[in-house]
Amino acid sequence: MKRNLTSMRRILARRLFDLWRIISIPCAAATAGGPVPPPDDRPAPEPEASRPPTDAHGSISKKRLWYWGAAILIALPVGGFLVAASGIMPIKASSGHWPITAWFLNFSMGRSVSTHAAGIEAPPLDDPGLILRGAGHYHISCRPCHGSPERRQPRVPLAMIPHPTYLPPVIPEWSPEELFYIVKHGVKFTGMPAWPTQQRDDEVWAVTAFLLTMPELDEEEYWQLVSAEPVGRAAAEAGTNGSSSRTEDDVRQLARRLCADCHGIDGTGRGDGAFPSLAGQHADYLTSAMQAYARGTRHSGIMEPVAAAIREDDFRRLAEFYGSTSTGRALRPGTPENASQSEPADADLAASLERGRQIAEHGIPDEKIPACIDCHGPTAHPRNGHHPLLAGQQEWYLRQQLELFHEARRGGSEYAHVMQPIAGRMKPEQIRDVAAWFARQTSARTQPE
Ligand code: HEC
Ligand code: HEC
Ligand code: HEC
Repeated sequence: MKRNLTSMRRILARRLFDLWRIISIPCAAATAGGPVPPPDDRPAPEPEASRPPTDAHGSISKKRLWYWGAAILIALPVGGFLVAASGIMPIKASSGHWPITAWFLNFSMGRSVSTHAAGIEAPPLDDPGLILRGAGHYHISCRPCHGSPERRQPRVPLAMIPHPTYLPPVIPEWSPEELFYIVKHGVKFTGMPAWPTQQRDDEVWAVTAFLLTMPELDEEEYWQLVSAEPVGRAAAEAGTNGSSSRTEDDVRQLARRLCADCHGIDGTGRGDGAFPSLAGQHADYLTSAMQAYARGTRHSGIMEPVAAAIREDDFRRLAEFYGSTSTGRALRPGTPENASQSEPADADLAASLERGRQIAEHGIPDEKIPACIDCHGPTAHPRNGHHPLLAGQQEWYLRQQLELFHEARRGGSEYAHVMQPIAGRMKPEQIRDVAAWFARQTSARTQPE
């Protein structure tokens, strides 16, 4: 199913050739027998002998043909505009499309998607974390139009023309690359929206990975993927300084309703680390991160719609709620002295972690890369609340954010300009080593400080 650039070029070349034939054959027929004379019948300047023999009758009919052609070309758009301006054209969705129009629109969409998806190559899509992230987004953003195995299709979108398809039966008709193309770019004239941010592809692949699994899911399995319920144990573990004031109950409810399906009610993330951990993170950083998503300065098609739907003053309340959770897996400032990490299983990993520790604690002065812990900890003294804690954060997430910074695709809060050039100078292996080291600084954090 993987296609490469060469096959895309081949398909494009074939389409252009078809188009050229469609245009050139009638034109060639119209001009057969020689070039068209100038309209005023004045003799051409060249000598008699060099002119091709033409018969007078033939040249008049050819001239007519050109006049008629030009007249039709002008009349069509003018006529179309007059019909539109008269307002007699029905645009009501209630009457649907004629079968031929519906067929033609479907046909064009299928052809366009297949041509444009030809140069795309899908990454591996079977990572359960990727599927879980895609599922969370689908449940919030796609289900209201397309329905789900757990509740077929809401009634109102069925009155759209064309109406959003119930997806499980049609997914196998598309390749992963075609699904990616549809989800990333949307479909004009149908109501199918484009991905909210075009800066990055990894999140679109997450939704594609989920779409591919959806046809096999029953109601129960779908629900398990998209919902944090039951949250009883996790909720009981979420320490919130023992207080149970009315406002705290409110914010817990807000978190349960809006965030827990992905981040868990304890903020450590659902699944096996499928989401970044918020638990124990600086409240200042969490607040500015949510503001950045809501304003569109930090790019995430998953988080931007969530943050944009929340009131600004709830950012701080949610940030303090998650920042103060202290389950065993929460992020904490810690200290390098008590950071004991489990012994790595193989020598390659041990060497990678040692290189990562060097970068984190001392930076690489020759390459103008500063020590990460000076801003991010773990250190004995508290750091600036706008510099996120990294120790104990998910490894894939640290690596991914550094790669996004490196490619200038992450965006961020008004403090992101500090981080951007640092990651911009890092090499892929340095990113991998330092992410592996920070992610493993967890065991110290499970002990009381
Ligand atoms: C506002 C409603 C709406 C939302 C939200 C929406 N879609 Fe769509 N989607 C549509 C419509 C309308 C079509 C076009 C159906 C057609 O042409 O038959 C479509 C088409 C598609 C198709 C092609 C299906 C086919 O074969 O007809 C896929 C796949 C798809 N959407 C996936 C998604 C995903 C994934 C999301 C969430 C990220 C999403 N859509 C969000 C309305 C929506
Ligand atoms: C549909 C799943 C989903 C939901 C629901 C969700 N998040 Fe997220 N959240 C994510 C993903 C995925 C990321 C990583 C995004 C990125 O790469 O920038 C993230 C990132 C974040 C970050 C940035 C973390 C960091 O270390 O920079 C914050 C803060 C955050 N979410 C807060 C919330 C809050 C608060 C809620 C509830 C109001 C919420 N999220 C709801 C999926 C979700
Ligand atoms: C001068 C201070 C400073 C230094 C030094 C620094 N960073 Fe950062 N870093 C930041 C700031 C500020 C942010 C938050 C940007 C934002 O708010 O969007 C950040 C964000 C990050 C993030 C994203 C975290 C998240 O939760 O999304 C990662 C990963 C990161 N830095 C890794 C590193 C690494 C690795 C190093 C060392 C090579 C390093 N940083 C050095 C200031 C710094």
